Amino acid sequence: MTIILGIETSCDETAAAVYKTDVGIISNDLYSQVELHKQFGGVVPEIASRSHLDKIGSITQLALDHANLPLSDIDVVAVTNKPGLPGSLLVGLCFAKAIAWAQHKKIIGINHLEGHIFSSFIEQTPPFPHVCLAASGGHTSLYYVKDYGDYECIGYTVDDAAGEAFDKVAKLINIPYPGGPIIEKMAANVGFKDFFNYPRAHVDKLNFSFSGLKTAVLYDLVKRNAYDMATKTFLFPQDQQFKEQVASSLLVCIADIFNDRLRNTLELYTEAQAVTFVGGVACNRYIREVLTRTCNRYGIPLITPSGRYCTDNAAMIAFVGHYKASHGLFDDYTLDIL
Ligand code: KG4
Ligand code: ZN
Repeated sequence: MTIILGIETSCDETAAAVYKTDVGIISNDLYSQVELHKQFGGVVPEIASRSHLDKIGSITQLALDHANLPLSDIDVVAVTNKPGLPGSLLVGLCFAKAIAWAQHKKIIGINHLEGHIFSSFIEQTPPFPHVCLAASGGHTSLYYVKDYGDYECIGYTVDDAAGEAFDKVAKLINIPYPGGPIIEKMAANVGFKDFFNYPRAHVDKLNFSFSGLKTAVLYDLVKRNAYDMATKTFLFPQDQQFKEQVASSLLVCIADIFNDRLRNTLELYTEAQAVTFVGGVACNRYIREVLTRTCNRYGIPLITPSGRYCTDNAAMIAFVGHYKASHGLFDDYTLDIL
């Protein structure tokens, strides 16, 4: 039996989790900095690293307490070392190195994206090979996943991530950060209809582009006299119905783009046995339903983790740590970020 402590601090969540081989995840704790960044409309790197420093000790202790284990019982410390905000990654990595060194434990650096790619394995067992659509505030990519740790990026965003598009458009119409979950609720109020037909950028078969979408929404707002470019002010803040129509049109547009790329992928990767949908944007029930319908047409399931494993968490880091440890893929104290 191997016990892995996972640590995640790549962006704005300070997280720790414990994974026991043969049992699975036995604790999963997290401090979200969302409230700290809300007033700025996005993550402020300096504030993020300071907050990680403040919370990393207590969150790790909480994860150990919930697992009912002392630190000395841990065999391996698995820590996110890339990609992410450098200052934030450094806090987690230095903390992980310190406890591994003090307790004579092994250490493994984990790629945050590999964490997301395998996050659906925490609760389910997707078959190989499969396609993974990973969509969060920092990334939007398609992977062809052949085995544990064996995956290839087959599509990616050439500019912004999908979550970023939700957050940026939310900011335009005065919705607080993170915009994705609120946009989903607002879209539901008007029945997930497409009112404004925002453009579906087409880069090529498997890649994404979302930066033009934000600009297109901005120009559409200006055209409707809803936004003043000179003062950067949204002019209909009290018009709930209009805001819901913008939210709904945006969600339907992003779901359409995902669906189009997924269909292209499944036409090319005909051996795929399933599709996994992971990352913060995978919390979105409307997009899940749209993608499920497409998967059904190809006779394969859409597999999505529970919300707590879609958004950033340390359970997915501990999980990847467990299969890397089982292959002896350890690092040493020269481990760096990025
Ligand atoms: O995976 P995550 O927690 O952090 C990153 O690695 O970025 O993803 C956060 C992103 C944010 O952009 C947020 O707006 C988006 O996921 N998000 C959603 C929903 N819940 C979170 N987007 C659309 N619909 C949701 N329900
Ligand atoms: Zn993430």
